[in-house]
Amino acid sequence: MTTTNKKSAKGHEWWRSSVIYQVYPRSFADANGDGIGDLQGIKKRLPALAELGVDAVWYSPFFKSPQNDAGYDVSDYRNIDPLFGTLEDFDQLVAESHSLGLKVIVDLVPNHSSSEHEWFKLALQAEPGSPERDRYIFRDGKGESGELPPTNWRSVFGGSAWTRVTEADGKAGQWYLHLFDSSQPDWNWENPEIIDEFNSILRFWLDRGADGFRIDVAHSMKKDWNFPDLDESNSDSGGGALTEADIPHPFWNREGVHDINRRWRSVLDEYDDRAMCAEAWVMPLSRMAKWVRPDEYHQTFNFGYLDCPWDATKLRSVIDESLAAFGGVGAPSTWVLSNHDVVRHTSRFGLTENPPQGQGIGPEHKQPNEKLGLRRARAASAFMLGLPGGAYLYQGEELGLPEHSTLEHRYRQDPTYFRTNGEKVGRDGCRVPIPWEHDKPSFGFGEAASTWLPQPNVFAKYARDVQEGVEGSTLELYKKLLQIRKDYSLGSGELHWLEPLCGDSSIAFENNGVLIISNLGEPMSLPSGEILVSTQTGLMASGQLETDQTAWIRL
Ligand code: NOJ
Repeated sequence: MTTTNKKSAKGHEWWRSSVIYQVYPRSFADANGDGIGDLQGIKKRLPALAELGVDAVWYSPFFKSPQNDAGYDVSDYRNIDPLFGTLEDFDQLVAESHSLGLKVIVDLVPNHSSSEHEWFKLALQAEPGSPERDRYIFRDGKGESGELPPTNWRSVFGGSAWTRVTEADGKAGQWYLHLFDSSQPDWNWENPEIIDEFNSILRFWLDRGADGFRIDVAHSMKKDWNFPDLDESNSDSGGGALTEADIPHPFWNREGVHDINRRWRSVLDEYDDRAMCAEAWVMPLSRMAKWVRPDEYHQTFNFGYLDCPWDATKLRSVIDESLAAFGGVGAPSTWVLSNHDVVRHTSRFGLTENPPQGQGIGPEHKQPNEKLGLRRARAASAFMLGLPGGAYLYQGEELGLPEHSTLEHRYRQDPTYFRTNGEKVGRDGCRVPIPWEHDKPSFGFGEAASTWLPQPNVFAKYARDVQEGVEGSTLELYKKLLQIRKDYSLGSGELHWLEPLCGDSSIAFENNGVLIISNLGEPMSLPSGEILVSTQTGLMASGQLETDQTAWIRL
């Protein structure tokens, strides 16, 4: 099968082939020494990202927020939280990024605000049925005196998706909807004021120089106003990908959301060369592809790919499905293996089974095999970066950083842990501050003696300075891969499967004259050609590609 990801004639369209690096601001670099990362810290470390060779940086939220969900609970969409800095710091970050040739992607959270948002505070003070309440989703409860939640919908983080408020007369009153934590009330997207407000927020950041947006839970804004109960078996919102059997659903992926997508697209189209990427956990990929029709999103995260285990047959099938689905609407596919919501792929691939999303790994769980996980992760990343389309990297993966899978529970911050009473340990393990210098306090993350989540000792050996310039290190591997990807324009190339090399134990394709092969089985001999890069040291001499290794060969 051949699939093209040629640039269209319309403008540069950098997003079709770019590599976008996700910075989790709390955990990237800390300039003010409070143990939490910040914008000045990021700015100082930007040259390292330019040197790595990525094209753009997506920043998880740095807006004003009480930080109940690490910033995905926004109380002021047009300001920076003092934890991270000021608007001036943001402007400097944009200027510095652009001077280094890096685009800036801002994370927009439109499904819900923080309960500390001015409009939610006004809604709580106002009467039921008032315009203030109509900005959110307030309903009367069921039962004789409204003591039962309006529906049985469950929060993604656990527990009911509804919280009851106390009215001005001191009596228990209406309930408001929150698909996530109770401190994250859902906006009412039927209200034109909300539509206008978000158009204006988009323009605010575009005017300040943002090159685009990653849109949080982009498939949840429209709700079924009949508020039906869900089948018990399906009432847990889960947050995982939807399947056809779940559709239509009262709040995930409703058709009306596409109108919102189109409205935002037309706002972005007022500007030059901006792009937006949807975080929409929607399956199958043919349904996900609707999100990237020409007048909707530019990109959507390919969670089908992220979910795929290290398995040659499954990889081939998810890639075929992705290229067909996204190609069918003229969009590039994206590829991603890690982010701030999932167990790092270095650790996932060191387990026999992938933990369900949000479950995480705690000290009481079976621990990943570090060596195996790292070997497979390097091979998987090298394979992914050869694919045509856009790719997403999560901070620390270029170091081969594992999950902090033995984090003590007393440090946990993810609301998932609390709302499930510890049943799910949550996502903190992939959010730990990253190591820069092995022999500095907090491994060079900042000056503070301790960091907001403690770093495990094992991070020392993954520190950037230990890997810098070291042949075969994961950092040098990523740099090489990104350089060659650029040199051969692999992001905007075409994929051709090499049938004789594809099977249960190996997978190979050709893209712009480069053969990309991963071996998942017994050692195998390589096809001839110049080895451009490989995950295996000494490959040139042996000529044998070992198990769980990837090579790029010039044909
Ligand atoms: C998806 C984000 O990636 C996640 O971190 C957050 O908790 C939820 N959306 C709620 O905003």
